[in-house]
Amino acid sequence: MAVPVNTASHGSTGGSTPSPAADAGPNLVLLYSKETIGREVGRLAMDISRDYRGLNPLLIGVLNGVFIFMADLVRAIDIAVEVDFIRAQSYLSTNSTGDVQVSGVERINVRGRHVVLVDDIIDTGQTSAHLLEVLRHEGPESVALCCLLDNPTRRTVDVDIDYRGLTIPNKFIVGYGLDLDQRWRNLPDIYTVERS
Ligand code: IMP
Ligand code: MG
Repeated sequence: MAVPVNTASHGSTGGSTPSPAADAGPNLVLLYSKETIGREVGRLAMDISRDYRGLNPLLIGVLNGVFIFMADLVRAIDIAVEVDFIRAQSYLSTNSTGDVQVSGVERINVRGRHVVLVDDIIDTGQTSAHLLEVLRHEGPESVALCCLLDNPTRRTVDVDIDYRGLTIPNKFIVGYGLDLDQRWRNLPDIYTVERS
């Protein structure tokens, strides 16, 4: 259902959805409810718990978009894990600039560790391909990739996704940590952005 973001009735899952600023803008259309997202996060957490039992994996999240997914994922994992974050940026509005800026990798010691790189969405694949290469260079025991969302239509670089959540249609999406120019990260559900 198409919901103009400048109305108080924004969101289709009840009154708890925050109401974005009351200026005109694109319409948001619900793609995945928080219940659907929760089920998917639970499934990914079960797979990671099964595969890494006894290995104390180091989960490295890619900020900013991953912050909500990571918080839910690690709380659904039932084995010992460590959590850290790096920062990557390549987007200007809805377009990948193709130029991935990374920071924070030098702080993290991945040598000999079982690393799981955790990202919100794999789109062109450039960010994760670049980060996987940087991490592999630091001598980890293993490196795997986990993402909540996959937009395979926009892929320009091949990446192997070890733990994949939902495969999305070729749309720009916001909510559950994902933004458009820093907005709408706080929406509990995931929406497609439709230009009005
Ligand atoms: P990639 O390098 O094109 O794979 O994109 C990586 C990053 O761009 C993701 O981790 C997101 O932070 C951001 N991104 C890609 N697609 C979307 C989208 O549809 N909505 C919001 N952010 C996105
Ligand atoms: Mg990201």
